[in-house]
Amino acid sequence: MEYRHLGRSGLCVSALAYGNWITHGSQIEEDAAVACVRAALDAGITTFDTADGYAMGRAESVLGRALAGERREGLVISTKVYWPTGPGPNDRGLSRKHVTESLHASLRRLGTDYVDLYQAHRFDHETPLEETLRAFDDLVRQGKVLYVGVSEWRAGEIARALEIAGQMGFDRIVANQPQYSLLWRVIEAEVLPLCEREGIGQLAWSPLAQGVLTGKYRPGQAPPRDSRAASESMNGFIGGLMRDNVLEAVEGLRAIADEAGLTMAQLALAWVLRMDNVASAIIGASRPEQVHENAAASGVTLSSDVLEAIDAALGDAVFR
Ligand SMILES: NC(=O)c1ccc[n+]([C@@H]2O[C@H](COP(=O)([O-])OP(=O)(O)OC[C@H]3O[C@@H](n4cnc5c(N)ncnc54)[C@H](OP(=O)(O)O)[C@@H]3O)[C@@H](O)[C@H]2O)c1
Repeated sequence: MEYRHLGRSGLCVSALAYGNWITHGSQIEEDAAVACVRAALDAGITTFDTADGYAMGRAESVLGRALAGERREGLVISTKVYWPTGPGPNDRGLSRKHVTESLHASLRRLGTDYVDLYQAHRFDHETPLEETLRAFDDLVRQGKVLYVGVSEWRAGEIARALEIAGQMGFDRIVANQPQYSLLWRVIEAEVLPLCEREGIGQLAWSPLAQGVLTGKYRPGQAPPRDSRAASESMNGFIGGLMRDNVLEAVEGLRAIADEAGLTMAQLALAWVLRMDNVASAIIGASRPEQVHENAAASGVTLSSDVLEAIDAALGDAVFR
């Protein structure tokens, strides 16, 4: 496994990280979740991503139990705050109250004294940015959070946060967690150039487009029975990618992967990791074999011919 610095920080993350959205505490049983975490550790994955709201906190609890007994110094644990965690008006967003309370609840569920990375899961238009950044900075000074990041913020929002942090002496954002894959390249226009300039590393989420880029969904065919797309309760977010024109374009990657001696999943992950600014691709997995297959994408370099062939195959199925 390759390890990369997270932006311009001193923190090293594994090039493949394991995230537990949708899976832990919901789609898969705890023994399968533990097996996936075990497989990740065996493959050299040190970096684990979760959030306060995943499965209403159960995902953090499962991850905490799965990692119990591991050497804490060998792990990089990241979680997030923003989405509702309860019924009240203060159970959401990025107010000082919710940021502080939610972090404490995350630490209890994860069974740790600190998280390595704490991320604002979305931008909060109802809370002054100064309030949020000071709350994060206080948690850093208390030693409960080591590094601060954001997720799905626009370039202008990140730039404003950097400006405030500079003026106020707050801890700087070092990580951004965007959706990024062969099929979803929205950050390339504005967010990536800003982050490259400012030393903010990317932790790319859904790098396999939720499984679509593994080639297991075939155009005109029903999804495999045991897949995310076939799960009534879990397929709410994958639907937009399950269109025939997208699946047909993805079929074009099969020969390119074969030729390169890679599986389609490995090809897709190596593509995300081709850029220095991407610190890590956060994979999900419902079973340990997937983790092992995906982890082998670390260290793979794609030639310019392969990169061109990929773009030609995907054509306008790419969302920019
Ligand atoms: N910040 C945010 O707003 C945000 C949003 C979403 C996700 N995330 C983060 O990103 C992480 C990953 O998201 P994701 O789960 O959508 O990532 P993904 O890696 O694109 O998709 C993972 C899913 O694809 C299938 N899969 C993975 N490897 C496979 C393989 N080799 N062969 C066949 N199928 C395979 C599995 O689903 P099945 O086996 O069930 O089909 C697996 O659960 C999350 O856990 C979370 O940490 C963050």
